[in-house]
Amino acid sequence: KEISVIGVPLDLGQTRRGVDMGPSAIRYAGMIERLEMIGYDVEDLGDLRVERPHRSELDENPKLKNLKQIVTACTELATKVDNVLERKRIPVVLGGDHSIAIGTLAGVTKHYNNLGVIWFDAHGDLNTEEITPSGNIHGMPLAASLGYGHAVLTNLYGICPKVKKENIVIIGARALDDGEKEFIRKEGIKVFTMHEIDRLGMAAVMEETIRYLSHADGVHLSLDLDGLDPHDAPGVGTPVIGGLSYREGHLAMEMLAESGLITSAEFVEVNPILDEKNKTAITAVALMGSLFGEKLK
Ligand code: ARG
Ligand code: MN
Ligand code: MN
Ligand code: MN
Repeated sequence: KEISVIGVPLDLGQTRRGVDMGPSAIRYAGMIERLEMIGYDVEDLGDLRVERPHRSELDENPKLKNLKQIVTACTELATKVDNVLERKRIPVVLGGDHSIAIGTLAGVTKHYNNLGVIWFDAHGDLNTEEITPSGNIHGMPLAASLGYGHAVLTNLYGICPKVKKENIVIIGARALDDGEKEFIRKEGIKVFTMHEIDRLGMAAVMEETIRYLSHADGVHLSLDLDGLDPHDAPGVGTPVIGGLSYREGHLAMEMLAESGLITSAEFVEVNPILDEKNKTAITAVALMGSLFGEKLK
């Protein structure tokens, strides 16, 4: 029961500033105390130092914005996450925008033969520089981790792919780009869109997710707060109406806690500038409590 927290104040994977303050907002919402209360030994490794782009290099490639800085930050993050797992502790990464998942997964995947990934998100994050509508790298981390996209992203930390397509479950999707839909169909990626969640109910969705990943020797949870409805998580850069409720989010986390599957996690896209009295960070911390077994204690 040992957790190590790593903050990644990176907002360069998208265009709305402020998500770099996510790690502070989550800590202010009482994350460390909450996990200690459950009985974890929590070590806070602080925040990575993220380099800002020099003005002369802003948007050098409009289809891969801030690539250089993101690769540098993700490589450093991978090293840190790798080291945490080496020490047999559970890494919990705080974003930052979702581009950091490339670094987290790079560090995590080294430690497993068959890593599972749960991608909790309104989006697919399955774009590449060829199909991206925005050029924002936070829309690409899952594709990059599957081995699709610019080589400097797919080969980050010298491991490609970081996860197999049959080991991924996307939950909460409701804003997939056309290219992403095609990719999902072609690759046969498991996706529970809001439609399936409404039809089946969250309990059935999680049961199926847990069964689907039961053969994995580790499961990483990548939780983008925009997977929740903007009513409960207004402080995100790309809110999409019609998302998961606070209660559905908690049920999902509690069922994951009961399953004992989760071996690492990250909470991303909290933007305190767009938030209402830190509501989104507070929600993130509440979800962490459930994920790490508050109810089972
Ligand atoms: N699909 C859109 C894009 O590529 C939005 C991505 C949003 N990603 C996120 N991690 N919030 O720009
Ligand atoms: Mn290692
Ligand atoms: Mn998203
Ligand atoms: Mn995302």
